[in-house]
Parts: sequence; structure tokens; C-alpha cells
Amino acid sequence: MKIAMIGAGNVGASAAFLLLSHKIAKELVLLDINANLAKGKALDLAQSATLLDINAKIQGGDDYKMLKNADICVLTAGFARKDGQSRDELASKNASIVSLWASKIAKFAPKSVIIVVTNPLDVMVSVALKFSGFEKERVLGMAGELDSARLKYEIATHFGLKNSDVSAQMFGEHGQNMFALNASVRGRKISKNELLHLENQAKIGGAKFIALLGTSAFYAPSAGIFKMCKALKSKNGTELICSIGDENGVACAQILKFGKKIKIINAKLNAIKAKKYAQAYAAIKQNLLNLENLSHK
Ligand code: 2OP
Repeated sequence: MKIAMIGAGNVGASAAFLLLSHKIAKELVLLDINANLAKGKALDLAQSATLLDINAKIQGGDDYKMLKNADICVLTAGFARKDGQSRDELASKNASIVSLWASKIAKFAPKSVIIVVTNPLDVMVSVALKFSGFEKERVLGMAGELDSARLKYEIATHFGLKNSDVSAQMFGEHGQNMFALNASVRGRKISKNELLHLENQAKIGGAKFIALLGTSAFYAPSAGIFKMCKALKSKNGTELICSIGDENGVACAQILKFGKKIKIINAKLNAIKAKKYAQAYAAIKQNLLNLENLSHK
């Protein structure tokens, strides 16, 4: 399997290392506007492969042609949030980067699956869907698994439990309107107030890193990319929460089943959760409209 990692920053490089060390990719290309960054990280990865007794072809650079025949193209390129900045504020700058890469992917890797990571995630999936011209099942966003992992971590830490004692899923959008789809702990109930607090902690999960590191997280996002690539490769029916476009071209969270084909599994939403989902969808749609209005100015 050939995987193209677009953006050789912390997220892209960490994901590349996971994909290499778990032998998901036999060929990896790292692409970045900073060609030397991509080449340097590719060289470092190639030397790590020697230590890990892994045979893989690893290249770095800035040439779109390196996308050729990739099976998966991971789009992490774009500006990351600064402290106090919302993901939505990145929309116009990152839309120009994502739309350009989506059109290059369509040209050089027309059979690939695109995994978008660039923020604001759901809006960028919608942009990549539009500019790649791919069917919706081949343009996915990585975020639902990341947000669900954060909720699971908050619950396990709060109750002093192991991760395996907790089941939790976040849904909606990768942003302000995300909400807990479900959450349960082996052997005890979570009160409404506890869940509200823990859901909020997960919601600000990404912002915590901006305050601590001055940039976004990268190990957990890269693990989310790894999970999606592994599911795409294995086609074993794994179910993951990802962002995917609808018939209107608006991407929002869905539960996807990664079999021979990617299928949407209907999430069970009661009236309250259906309202929260509608709010998330409306916010994404409005962001897209703002973007389109901006681009027509
Ligand atoms: C995060 O929440 C980068 O949006 C990503 O960490």
C-alpha cells in the first residue's frame, strides 16, 4: 500500500512513523511546501526502518507527481490554531491549501481515498470533496475518533479506571457543537452532571494543547489517522466515527463501517441528540456558506 502524507509537520510525520512501524504502508511519501522538511523526515524515517527491520520505500519532497498512484492521501497541510483561536478562523486560509491539494490528488492519485485532518475539519472535508470530484466514500475526515478518545480519557481519568473499562463516542462536528453520542463505564453509572463536565473537558481537548505546546496535539491525531488507514487496508468491518459528505456536499460525523465498501451505519439519536446533530450540521453548513461568500468577493 502507498500512502502519501501531505504535510510533514508533527501530525504528518508522527502518523507516517506509526504507519511505517506497524507495516501498514509499504511505500510512504512525505510532501510539504518545505521540501527540505519533508526530505529530512523521510530520511529519518527510512533510517528508523533499518533499525526496525522493515523494508519500505520512503521519499520526501514537494513535487505533486510524488502523489502518483497513492492508495491513501492524508491531508494534514494547513495552518494550525494559535492560542485563543477557534478552528473556524482557519477556514479561508486552509481552504485554499486543501482545494489545491484535492485537485492535485484527483490528477495524480485518482483512485485514492483522501483522509482530511486540516481544520476546520468538517468544512475542509467538504472542500476536498468538491475539489477532488471524488465520490463521498473516498473523502473522509479524521476527528470523531480523536474526540471520542478524549472523552474516553476524561472519563477513565475521572473515575480512576483503565481505558478498557470505558466506552465513549463523540459525535456532531469537530468543533464547538460536538456532543457525547454515548458513554458508559463498566460497573457504574455516570451522572448527567458528571457527563456534562467530562464532555466539556473533551470538547476543549484540542485547545489544551495550544495552551501547553503553542501548537496542536499530534500523537493522538496521528493515532486517529493510523486507525483509519488500518481500517481502509483491512476492510474487516471496523466501525469508526469519521466526517463524510452528504448529498448536499456538507460533511459531518457519521459512523462508518470499513468493509469491502464503506457504509454509513445509522447512529441512534434520541430527540435531544438529533437536535444537537442538527445544530452541528447547521454550523458546518454556515461555515461553508461564509467561505463561498468570501471566495466570491
Ligand atoms: C485537535 O483537536 C488538531 O483539531 C485537532 O487536536
